[in-house]
Amino acid sequence: MKNADFLTGITTSGTPHLGNYVGAIRPAVETSRDKNLNSYYFLADYHSLIKNHDPRLRKQSALEIAAAWIALGLDYDNCVFYRQSDIPEIPELTWILTCLTAKGLMNRAHAYKAAVADNEQDNDPDKGITMGLFSYPILMAADILMFNAKKVPVGKDQVQHLEMTRDIAARFNHIYENLFVLPEVVVDETSAVLSGLDGRKMSKSYNNYIPLFGTEKALRKMIMKIQTNSLGPDEPKDPDTCTLFSIYQAFATPEQTKAMAARYSRGIAWGTMKNELFEYINEILKEPRKRYDELIQAPSDIDAVLKKGAEKAREFSVPFLDRIRKAVGISSLG
Ligand code: TRP
Repeated sequence: MKNADFLTGITTSGTPHLGNYVGAIRPAVETSRDKNLNSYYFLADYHSLIKNHDPRLRKQSALEIAAAWIALGLDYDNCVFYRQSDIPEIPELTWILTCLTAKGLMNRAHAYKAAVADNEQDNDPDKGITMGLFSYPILMAADILMFNAKKVPVGKDQVQHLEMTRDIAARFNHIYENLFVLPEVVVDETSAVLSGLDGRKMSKSYNNYIPLFGTEKALRKMIMKIQTNSLGPDEPKDPDTCTLFSIYQAFATPEQTKAMAARYSRGIAWGTMKNELFEYINEILKEPRKRYDELIQAPSDIDAVLKKGAEKAREFSVPFLDRIRKAVGISSLG
């Protein structure tokens, strides 16, 4: 097994939504089919332990995310699709890296700093902050370095973690042996950031998201809930500030988008637009929804796909960890 050209992880918390589709799933599905690329995608279930302490939710989320990626066309035979917790080499590497990561580097992590800032009113700055949250960039570094990934596609909020990964890798290479590739971050500016029901970025944390695989009825209901202004049916409308339009644009072709913008300037009733948006998205999701529903009913089939993926991944991680162990002086005494 070759090292990873592309690698990215999906934290298993929450239900996959339209924003995940256009931001992460759609571009990954495309890369997964490229015969010239060796791409790795994994369910980051160890990461989900940090925020969520509900075992039932974690499992359900892993099932839904795996089913969604497969239903939307991930080519799991051509890429490597696995569960982080099926790769025991990752936590071992995490510890090795933890022992050469400066605490000061972790002090600067945005997520940790934000958690401390939230405690400003309390007299305990550490309130509710676990060691998992504090050192999570090291786990992420291990995910990436375990497969010597060259490129890591992530959202903007993860860029700092990639810088830290490079820092940690360089330190290992300097202290022990030059084993790690320094990974490059790929922030795809063209992949859409979708607006949610209230116009802010669609996100689990804002609870403003539209699930990918609810029923047809639920999808329609959600789209009808999207906030609009109070302009009347025939009044010209501005597409650039409209949530409905931005969602349409994320799915439609450039020509269709242009035609829709023209209808906005002539005046389109909000009710009409909502209906058309529903029809358009529903058409795209119809077939995947069927596959998704079948997959959710057959979790052991998903397990089998993920186990096979883990076997492929371990063809790389087992021998590579062996070299890493040797480099640090943990190997046979002979
Ligand atoms: N931390 C990432 C996120 O919240 C998920 C993730 C975990 C990841 N390990 C990774 C992404 C390794 C890229 C590479 O989005």
